[in-house]
Amino acid sequence: MTNRLFLAATAAATLLAVGGSLGAAAPAVPVGTKGTAGVGDPLLPLSGDGGLHVRHYALTLKYQPKARRLDGTAVLSATATQDLSGFDLDLSGLDVHQVTVDGMPVSYDRSGQKLEVGLGHPVSSGTDFEVAVDYGGTPHPLTDADGSSDGWTALPGSQGAFVAGEPQGAMTWFPCNGHPVDKSTYDITVTVPQGYTAVSNGVLRTQHTAAGRSTFSWHETAPMAAYLATASVGRFDVRQYWSGRLPVYTAVDPAEKADADDVLDQLPAVIKWEQSLFGPYPFDAAGAIVMHDKDIGYALETQTRPVYDEAPDMDTLVHETAHQWFGDSVTVTRWQDIWLNEGFATYAEWMWDAAHGGAAPHDRLAQLYAKPATDELWSYPPGHPADLAHLFGVPSYARGAMTLQELREAVGDQAFFGILKQWAATHKYGHGTTAEFEALAARVSGKNLDPLFATWLYSTGKPTKM
Ligand code: TRP
Ligand code: ZN
Repeated sequence: MTNRLFLAATAAATLLAVGGSLGAAAPAVPVGTKGTAGVGDPLLPLSGDGGLHVRHYALTLKYQPKARRLDGTAVLSATATQDLSGFDLDLSGLDVHQVTVDGMPVSYDRSGQKLEVGLGHPVSSGTDFEVAVDYGGTPHPLTDADGSSDGWTALPGSQGAFVAGEPQGAMTWFPCNGHPVDKSTYDITVTVPQGYTAVSNGVLRTQHTAAGRSTFSWHETAPMAAYLATASVGRFDVRQYWSGRLPVYTAVDPAEKADADDVLDQLPAVIKWEQSLFGPYPFDAAGAIVMHDKDIGYALETQTRPVYDEAPDMDTLVHETAHQWFGDSVTVTRWQDIWLNEGFATYAEWMWDAAHGGAAPHDRLAQLYAKPATDELWSYPPGHPADLAHLFGVPSYARGAMTLQELREAVGDQAFFGILKQWAATHKYGHGTTAEFEALAARVSGKNLDPLFATWLYSTGKPTKM
């Protein structure tokens, strides 16, 4: 919490503190408090603001790959979730030129990663309001605690930009309520020099080129966490086609085309196969963005259209596609539940490999279990990553997948796949917690699974086989 009070609140809306603090120096306390700085995530305490829900973002951006400059306007349609005199958005770097609320300029301040906005008139819980932020500058990615970089990342030369924001990089390119507990629909419009393509989430509504510039308007109708938004820019080779009723849009850097094409051709088959395991594909669009910069070192499951640093292999395609159910449609409420994303997406790889001549999941479990107690695999319990540096460590992926295989062996295939499908269906477009997953697994299987989860998710070090 910052101590800043929003003095824009009128005197009439002022309460005096009760008790011995009525001295002349006592600050005026506006009716309605400021939203919390941070929604209270233990790993990213500053992320988000619990005082508002953003229903919709309309981002209108211009990017100049040569100058690496981003300029734009973000219009946030928000609802106060408590009485509010102001709120904090996340925004890292970039200059803010103006902020309006319902069309009226309001006071604002910058403090660290926060854009602190004062409401001219406090609003009561449940009120809808529209915030518009004019901003621009050169976006810089953040360096995460594990050394990876996160956010709007300009590629060498004037190639374009890789845009992926997990866990906190969304704020490097737009002002946002940046914690995944808040999900919103999006319209993202990006103008780039002719010859470049700007690729974002959902469906491409319009595209036009005039006076040497191209504008791409994207629309994401399903709720999306800010970290899953992208607006990656490159000189892509674009393919658009229908897979049944699903529009597929792939954008591939020509330097990766030879390696990427065969794998991306499998995308419709991977989606169909995953639907048979997890239930209906949750979104109204699909695709891929393939950049040419393996220094970045990762892919991200940006909603409907994952972004890859280079041509993906089949495992990576299967992994990012599985995240559309686990992570994107069903989203964590706190980062420590990340195994619900990474363990599930890794387990999808195991199943794909098993279905295509590779090792059975039971054997992979055994191979991994054979690793010595000193191995990184046992460095933290996946149900409780202690800090940001370990959020995306091996246990979140591999031991998370091992947990699912243990669960499958404990409850049998029918219950196991029932659990996966019900998880995806019950929490579709919303959130899920580890506790809710454990409860669902127990309910569907009719078994006491507490010892299994205690061992695989929460015990420190290499678990003793039950
Ligand atoms: N969630 C990504 C995956 O497993 C990996 C990842 C972790 C990431 N942190 C990131 C990607 C930051 C982009 C930015 O596929
Ligand atoms: Zn992943």
